Amino acid sequence: IPLSAVIGWPIAHSRSPALHGHWLARYGLPGAYVPVPVRPDDLARVLKVMPKMGFVGANVTIPHKEAVLKIADIVTDRASLIGAANTLIFREDGQIHADNTDGYGFITNLTQNAPDWQPAAGAAAVIGAGGAARSVVASLLESGVPELRIANRTRIRAEQIKADFGAKVVIYDWAQAGNMLEGATTVVNATSMGMLGHQPLKLPLDALRPGAVVTDLVYTPLMTEFLTEALRRGCKVVDGLGMLLHQAAPGFERWFGHRPEVDAELRQAVL
Ligand code: ATR
Repeated sequence: IPLSAVIGWPIAHSRSPALHGHWLARYGLPGAYVPVPVRPDDLARVLKVMPKMGFVGANVTIPHKEAVLKIADIVTDRASLIGAANTLIFREDGQIHADNTDGYGFITNLTQNAPDWQPAAGAAAVIGAGGAARSVVASLLESGVPELRIANRTRIRAEQIKADFGAKVVIYDWAQAGNMLEGATTVVNATSMGMLGHQPLKLPLDALRPGAVVTDLVYTPLMTEFLTEALRRGCKVVDGLGMLLHQAAPGFERWFGHRPEVDAELRQAVL
C-alpha cells in the first residue's frame, strides 16, 4: 500500500496525520500516513531510504522546509522562489520532486471563504516576512494584487522579499505598520503572533477599511484577537485552518490517487 509521511523535528504537534488519515478513511483508500521525527543531520539519508520502504512521498515541515530544496532532484519554480518546499513526491525513476503548496492553500482558503474577494481591487498588506509570508506573497502576486505591502519586525527579511519578488512590493517600517492598512483590500497576518502561548498581534487598525478581507495564518485559536477586532470593524475575516487543509490536498491526490474535499467534517477531524 502507498505510504506517506510528515517529516519534522519535533513532529508530535503536527495535524497532518489526522488530516490525511481522515481522508484515507473517508474515501476507503489503501494507504497510510505517519509522522516521522527526523533530526536535521539525518534528513538527506532518511529521504534517500524512504522510497525503498514504500513511501510515495511526504510532507515536510519545520525545520526542514528550506533544507529539502538542496536534497531534491527536481524543485518547482514556485518552491525555489519561495525558498521552501512542503510537498515531496518520490518518483518511480528515483527522483525526488519538491513543491510548495502553501500558496495554493492560502488562495483556495480565501476564495472559498470570501467568495467576493477581488485580489485586483486594491493593495494587499502582509504582516511578517518568514517562510509562510513568502508563500503568501508569491500567491498574492500571482493572483494579481496591484501592490504588495509588507512589514516585518526584522526589516532585512522584508527587503529580501522585495529583492526576490519585485517592484510591486512596498516595505513599511515595523513601527508604522498600521499605515499599510490605508486603502488595503486584503490583509494577512503571516507572523506567529496571536498563536496560543505567543504574544498577540497588536497592530493599530484605525486605517483598516470596512469590507477589507482579513485573514490570519494562525489557527490556534481559530479566532485570533486580530481577526476579532477586524470583524468588529466590519471586515470579512477568514481563519487560518483552511490554508492548512487546502495545502494538503495536492499531495494527497498525487500519493493516493483521489482528489480530496475540504469541508466542515474535515475541520472537525483536524481541530
Ligand atoms: P514561518 O515559516 O512560520 O513564517 P518564521 O520564518 O520563523 O516562521 O517567521 C515567523 C514570522 O513571525 C516572522 O515574520 C517573525 O518576525 P522576524 O522576522 O522579525 O523574526 C514574526 N514574529 C514572530 N514573533 C514575533 C514577535 N514577537 N514580534 C514580531 N514579529 C514576530
